[in-house]
Amino acid sequence: MMMKTLKASVAGLALCAAPAFAEDVEVLHWWTSGGEAAALNVLKQDLEGQGIGWMDMPVAGGGGEQAMTVLRARVTAGDAPTAVQMLGFDILDWGNQGALANLNAVAAQEGWDAVVPAALQEFAKVDGKWVSAPVNVHSTNWVWANKSVLDANGIAVPTTWEEFTAAVETLSAAGVTPIAHGGQAWQEATVFDAVAMSAGGPDFYKSAFIDLDAEALGSDTMKEAFDRMAFIRANVDDNFSGRDWNLATAMVINGEAGFQMMGDWAKGEFLNAGKVPGQDFLCFRFPGTVEQVTFNADQFAMFDQGGTVSDQQAALASSILSPSFQSAFNVVKGSVPARTDVSDADFDDCGKQGMKDLAAAASSGNLFGSMAHGHANPAAVKNAMYDVITAHFNGEYDSATAVEELVSAVEIAQ
Ligand code: BGC
Repeated sequence: MMMKTLKASVAGLALCAAPAFAEDVEVLHWWTSGGEAAALNVLKQDLEGQGIGWMDMPVAGGGGEQAMTVLRARVTAGDAPTAVQMLGFDILDWGNQGALANLNAVAAQEGWDAVVPAALQEFAKVDGKWVSAPVNVHSTNWVWANKSVLDANGIAVPTTWEEFTAAVETLSAAGVTPIAHGGQAWQEATVFDAVAMSAGGPDFYKSAFIDLDAEALGSDTMKEAFDRMAFIRANVDDNFSGRDWNLATAMVINGEAGFQMMGDWAKGEFLNAGKVPGQDFLCFRFPGTVEQVTFNADQFAMFDQGGTVSDQQAALASSILSPSFQSAFNVVKGSVPARTDVSDADFDDCGKQGMKDLAAAASSGNLFGSMAHGHANPAAVKNAMYDVITAHFNGEYDSATAVEELVSAVEIAQ
């Protein structure tokens, strides 16, 4: 009896001493590269400081396709994770199925409506309810370059497609791999975001990728975009097939290649390797897309754990949206804040430019959702486009055929 009482009071003590949130949050994400893991640590530490434990559920694979497959299996098994890294249309899809928790209380208390850009709110709310917490804004139309390689070959930052092709040919003639690329469908699609924007401009990008206008999809401009992809394909190294994106970034970091076309998560790899923008590497908008931004925003969608949002979910959402976290995390990740009121003081030159570009593109009508990263269309259409872009890149058919395939694949997928 005595023993029982003692045990009960020790248990009581333990309960009192326990942090306010005794349970872990289980977070499913695809941040597995060195730079991504460093950024994720900022979030883990932030939560640890509040007594919230972190149960890691990483699913490797840039762009998140594999993570979304694992998520579907978990939800089907009735075992949804607490929070899931998610992009654009996937959030809307799960939200419309009623699978996500309602974050309106924390959003109202912290005034998210006033500070989160409208373009992000479109993907964070379903029927007027906040269902996910925006972490950042990435954009896909960037080029990353090794500065010494460019300097050694007398190459200035190219601003047009013609200057870019000339730079690539100079590197090729010098025996340097001009373009570091990882041959995976999502990476080819990422390059295609920028290439299509550059070939056809913003109206074309919107008609083809967002409005899915058959005429734009089947146009000569689209053929030109595929021709430009063929040029890029001709200037990657022989071992590109299947390479992870961060290994392609490493080629630029190590001076084994001149350029990589990739979203600004690539900057996280340069920083993680101790490299400095302007000194060791250069960041610039894909030639011909200087005013445009093709964006994707990582958000943490909160899965409904039985009616109401849990304390842990609310705390996670609140941490993510805090201005100090938005700065600390995005400085490391390579992205820019998902709030309009965060100072750029702690960001490097590429980050400052990213913040300026985003604001300018939003106010001049030049901000568009990334086709490659789930912000232009639902997964079925996105994947249909991936298939055609990657088949063409791998030489399965020529540009004229790719255009025809694209039109029919998109029609079928809708
Ligand atoms: C995500 C980034 C991530 C990248 C590569 C993108 O879809 O938005 O956060 O770093 O994929 O994994």
